[in-house]
Formats: sequence, C-alpha cells, structure tokens
Amino acid sequence: MDSKILIIGSSGQIGTELVLRLREIYGNENVVASDIRKGNYEVMESGPFEFLDVTSKIDIKEVLEKHQIKEVYLMVAILSVIAEQNPQKAWDLNMNSLFNILDLAKDGIIEKIFWPSSIAVFGPDTPKINTPQDTIIKPSTVYGISKLAGENWCAYYSQKYGVDVRSIRYPGLISYKTTPGGGTTDYAVEIFYEAIKRKSYTCFLEENTVLPMMYMDDAINATIQVMQAERMSSYISYNLGAFSFSPKELAEAIQKQIPEFEINYKPDSRQEIAKTWPQSIDDSQAKNDWDWEAKTDLDQMVITMLQGLHYRI
Ligand code: SER
Repeated sequence: MDSKILIIGSSGQIGTELVLRLREIYGNENVVASDIRKGNYEVMESGPFEFLDVTSKIDIKEVLEKHQIKEVYLMVAILSVIAEQNPQKAWDLNMNSLFNILDLAKDGIIEKIFWPSSIAVFGPDTPKINTPQDTIIKPSTVYGISKLAGENWCAYYSQKYGVDVRSIRYPGLISYKTTPGGGTTDYAVEIFYEAIKRKSYTCFLEENTVLPMMYMDDAINATIQVMQAERMSSYISYNLGAFSFSPKELAEAIQKQIPEFEINYKPDSRQEIAKTWPQSIDDSQAKNDWDWEAKTDLDQMVITMLQGLHYRI
C-alpha cells in the first residue's frame, strides 16, 4: 500500500483488536498504533507505536507526517458511564479529538477517516425494536449527546469540505481479548470473567433489560468493510446489529456451558442509561450498501468467550 494507517486509541477495547487485524491485512509496518498509554504485548511488539495525545493537533500532524499516513481510525472516547460522572471532560475529549481529525482532513492531510458512533445516539423516544436508521434521535446521556453531535459534524465536514469519513453505530461489543471500560454494556464481558472465576455474577442491570450486542470479530469486520466500501454519496453512520439479549438470557446461554453458574441482580444507575437505548437494530442499510452480515450468534459467542478466557484468567 502506498500510504499508511494510524489507529488513535490503539490500547482500548476496539483499538487493540483493530490494530492486529489491520496489520494482518496491510502488513505490520503499514499500521501505526497510537495511544496515551502502552498497548498490550502483541500490539507493542508487532509494529510501530507512537505515544499520542489526541487533543493535540500539532502532535497528531507530526505523527501523520513522520509515517506518511493518509488514513485514520479514531477509536478514542469516554464511554457512557464515565461520561455521566464527568460531562465536561467527556464532551471535551469526545468532540475535540474528532475536530482535530476532521480539520486535518479538511486541510488535505488525511484522506479517509473512520469514526465510531454508538447505539447511545438513540434515546427514550426512539422506537426500541428494530430501531430504524433514520428515526427520532434524542439521546439523554452525555455520551449519546457527544456521539450525535459527532455524527452531525461528520455530515457537515463531508458536505461542506468533501471530507471522506466513514462511521458505524456500534452496539455493545464483546471480546475475550480486551476489556471495555466505563460502558453500560460492560456487564456482558464482566459476566464471563465471573462465570469462570466464581461461577456467579451480580449484574448491575435488571434481568430483562434487552440490549443490542455483537461479538468483536464482527465489529472489526464491519469496520474494515465500511472503510473499504466504495465512497458513499453522503456521510452516514450505519446502524449495525448482530444479536440482542437480556442479562437473564445471557446467563441462560452461559448455563448451557456451565450449569452451576448463578446470576443475581443489583441494578444501579447504569440501568437508567440502558433503559433509554434500543433493544434491537435495523441494519438493512449496511446490508444493502456494503453487504454487512454478522457471522457470530449468541451461543457461538458464549462458547468462544469461555474458551478464550479459560486460557487467560
Ligand atoms: N458500549 C458503549 C457503552 O456502554 C455503548 O457504545 O457506553
């Protein structure tokens, strides 16, 4: 490939796996990882890494020039739970990081951007079942407000300056290789650690709280697919779905593998966030536009998680 790729936020839940997959596809030297903290061993050892503060446009520009980078995946965000605790910080980080990248694209330094949005853009007035691509979008969380504003800014830079920015509204993401931090959907990862270690888990959501979720491999595939898709006529942050479950249903799926596993419920403020989000997602536009298809279902995900974590914890 003639230009390189930069992943900002490469030590995070999605960033870590994205770097490794992109290095497989494009070659280790062509994929530069960057974060304010070190990544895991695999990321640090397999290719270039730069310490980078995404709030500094000058520093980003320096890294772009040093490595001749034209494509950026901006995987930095303060997630829903932490954002509620520190709204100003979340807003500043989530928005300023995006502005820095959009402006560098406007100036012609970056040619293509991936920026993640989330199911958190939807709010209590949004239809919850099979939530359409275009619908009532009035988020009630700090994180959701920042993601919706980000979507609008991406659309603005795309229309006004011709910036090529691709985006997906991720559901809750589940992986055994990396852990999430500060999100409402984190229980769906934590539960596996506790299932293996203690055979029991106390869930911070109510038992029947259904949320859209996805196995990480599918999310990574979708991310790469949307970046490889032919240029879209206009900016769109694609709805993306795989499967949906409640804590109770996830516990039942785990019990098929670990019959003695028990779940208890002690809902906290995260329940208030979860109940404003959709239960399932209509992703027909992604299916039509770039042949999106989730490959992993709930039972496969559970088996993969338990096997994968078995060797890690
Ligand atoms: N997984 C995220 C969260 O729970 C949603 O994008 O905050």
